[in-house]
Amino acid sequence: MTNLAVIGTQWGDEGKGKVVDLLTEGADLVVRFQGGNNAGHTLVVGSETYALHLVPSGILHQDKISVIASGVVVDPEVLLTEIDQLAERGVVITPDNLKISERAHVILPYHQALDQARESGGSAGRGLKLGTTGRGIGPAYEDKAARRGVRLGDLRNLAAFREKISVALVEKNCLFSSLYGLPKHEAGPVMALAEKWAKRLGPFITDTFDVIRTSADKGLNILFEGAQGVQLDLDHGTYPYVTSSNPTTGSVAVGAGLAPKELHRVLGLVKAYTSRVGEGPFPTELADATGNKIREVGREFGTTTGRPRRCGWLDAVVVRTAVELCGVDSLAVTKLDVLKGLEEIKIAKAYKIGDAVTTRMPASLEDLARVEPVYESWPGFDEDISGAKRLEDLPAKARAYLDRMAELTGAALGMISVGPERDQTIVLDKFFERKAG
Ligand code: GDP
Ligand code: IMO
Ligand code: MG
Repeated sequence: MTNLAVIGTQWGDEGKGKVVDLLTEGADLVVRFQGGNNAGHTLVVGSETYALHLVPSGILHQDKISVIASGVVVDPEVLLTEIDQLAERGVVITPDNLKISERAHVILPYHQALDQARESGGSAGRGLKLGTTGRGIGPAYEDKAARRGVRLGDLRNLAAFREKISVALVEKNCLFSSLYGLPKHEAGPVMALAEKWAKRLGPFITDTFDVIRTSADKGLNILFEGAQGVQLDLDHGTYPYVTSSNPTTGSVAVGAGLAPKELHRVLGLVKAYTSRVGEGPFPTELADATGNKIREVGREFGTTTGRPRRCGWLDAVVVRTAVELCGVDSLAVTKLDVLKGLEEIKIAKAYKIGDAVTTRMPASLEDLARVEPVYESWPGFDEDISGAKRLEDLPAKARAYLDRMAELTGAALGMISVGPERDQTIVLDKFFERKAG
């Protein structure tokens, strides 16, 4: 009887995959509601590591239902590869444990080509290089908003599917040939893929609104798995260096189809420091030996693209923004173990812009580029905390840092993660409630 959202409060990669996998034990349904295969969620179970991009992170619990809801953009080719690779490792995915929305939009090869052409500048692109994942996410959401996208449900009528993409291709091909100097895309090869997708994914494609609605009515526990993080939100993040969906909690209502008042709890994921992949402002970035050390110890290399992640101190302005914007009840702090051995640990509690001091994220890129973080310094800890099971197992210096994080961000501590494995977690809250009987 609990509907719980897990969202990233920073720039993504906070450890959502680990936490969702852990919490799935108490859930009945795990629902992805936005983003696409730009996400890379890592699950570590014993000697096995799983990197998931589209399949919800509850999938290792095979008795639970995973849902890819209508707000997600789906590259069917990537999804099929992911399903096959999981099957090879003994994770069996059937229409009983994976439901995919008929309303979810499809990422087609021309979306990916367009994303990559823009990022590389093309022959005449000269656009802003955002450092996207190159997976076609932006162009697919553009087509959705422009009402020329195709949806997974369209695979049920391939003649109509062909008609829709043929119309879309007229415009796309003008861009490819005239602007980017790239070969045109034809409907034929896309349709060959579409026929395969229709056959293989058809049985999974359904009305996920009904699945979620029926489950909520039965009082089941539903876990909503966010992708990306609040600062990558199209409306509230560091625009234009953002993704093309809304990783904020409001997206649960829109992307999954749940009335906003039915979301009971929000768990905000916070990495104990900050990381960012791709371009864009990052006020607490450490372009020095400390930043390099955090990247090496924390293995901060992208799950999706393998790119080195930029690293820096915890930014309480960023996390507090997420707490307020998303109604975060409690924080799951991850990767605290990575900070071991640092002499001091800093937290930005405000920004200075010229003579003014603010605790709000400036909307303007120019202002963001010149903010100076106002830091507090906390003494570091030297103890190995990777085996801590209770709060009392943590050194006093680590606890003081955590308490200050909660105070500055305005949310309670709900979970502390001290390593990638399921059992390297201190759980301080009961996230799901069950109906009696
Ligand atoms: P997500 O996108 O939010 O799911 O996060 P990613 O999976 O992209 O990145 C988080 C990385 O940190 C993964 O490799 C996890 O296995 C790892 N991880 C998660 N929690 C912890 C932790 O508490 N300590 C350490 N050392 N690694 C962690
Ligand atoms: P998870 O779910 C970190 C970043 C990209 C780029 C920007 C736009 O694993 O936390 P896009 O391909 O979405 O158009 O790229 O967003 N980005 C992520 N960064 N974690 C992610 O997902 C991300 N998904 C997109 O690096 O800066
Ligand atoms: Mg990730």
